[in-house]
Amino acid sequence: MAASGHATPRMPPARCLDLGWVGGYSLDAMKTTPDKRKPSILSGIQPTGRLTIGNYLGALRNWVALQDQYECYYVLVDLHAITVRQEPKVLRRRCYEFLALYMACGLDPATSTLFVQSHVPTHAQLSWILNCFTYMGEAQRMTQFKEKSSRHSENINIGLFDYPVLMAADILLYSADLVPVGEDQKQHLELTRNLAERFNGIYGNVFTVPEPFIPKVGARIMSLKDPTSKMSKTDEDDATYVALLDEPEAVRRKIKRAVTDAGREVVYDESRPGLANLLTIFAATAGEPIETIVGRYEGKGYGDLKKELAEAIVEFLRPVQQRYRDIIADEPGLARVLADGAARALARTRPLLARVHEALGFIPE
Ligand code: TRP
Repeated sequence: MAASGHATPRMPPARCLDLGWVGGYSLDAMKTTPDKRKPSILSGIQPTGRLTIGNYLGALRNWVALQDQYECYYVLVDLHAITVRQEPKVLRRRCYEFLALYMACGLDPATSTLFVQSHVPTHAQLSWILNCFTYMGEAQRMTQFKEKSSRHSENINIGLFDYPVLMAADILLYSADLVPVGEDQKQHLELTRNLAERFNGIYGNVFTVPEPFIPKVGARIMSLKDPTSKMSKTDEDDATYVALLDEPEAVRRKIKRAVTDAGREVVYDESRPGLANLLTIFAATAGEPIETIVGRYEGKGYGDLKKELAEAIVEFLRPVQQRYRDIIADEPGLARVLADGAARALARTRPLLARVHEALGFIPE
């Protein structure tokens, strides 16, 4: 427990909360870091599939908004990605592509540390150690493991089972105070907290117990074909999502075919999840409140709404794609960003790993 009486670092400004974060936890998180200049954030995305508008609205835009107030580490979790078979060439291209998109969306590599997990060996090192503090039963209860092993029944490997432990290592290594994740990662965060508390209970305060930072429901963007499930960047059917790199024609086609509900009037109503999802995307990409948009469609139908939504998305994506094209063309530049990010990540995590080793009784290097 943190001692009281230290200066409490300032709360994240309301701007972050306006963007749709549930900030209810953050005050406690601040208290655990009385002696740090800035509280820190770590989050990760697997470099698989195609980054979608859902990734942008649910994660990236918040990462960008947080980068000045926090010390931010954003990791492309390639070690996690290989828990499912990957095509080597595609995996490599995706890592560059995702990095370039991060930067095109406004993440600044001078401010935020952007890196790939496999470049920073402390992640795998700490995850081994945490394995020895994780119970089989606890890992078996993870719903994502259960769900993924039924989806990939031909390849239920130990890495898949161990996935949440590696994720815990990602987080604990940076003494991250806040971890922005989607609702689906809450259970992994809970495991991370349990592991941290278990280890601290035995060896003293080594790990910071992180707080989840979960976007409000409105930031959860759903599949265009099945508005009851989350938009997924790895969905085999690419008509279920709008990718950040989709051409205007593809955007128009996908929005036109998006599932809407019975009914004709444009109203925001959660019992009409297809329409509600489109309105959420519209509001976010056009930068207007949902009510304003709904107001414009009085007496009009879904067809009008979809046409204008498609154009709003196209306009929203245009500058991102333009910046992306410049950034991706400079592969040596991207490689430098990753090398620099890895060096910073390693420098940040080495001391913590050394503390863990010391606590365990390993002979210092
Ligand atoms: N498991 C996360 C996901 O699928 C990705 C991830 C890996 C992550 N390590 C992390 C997220 C650390 C946050 C923090 O979304």
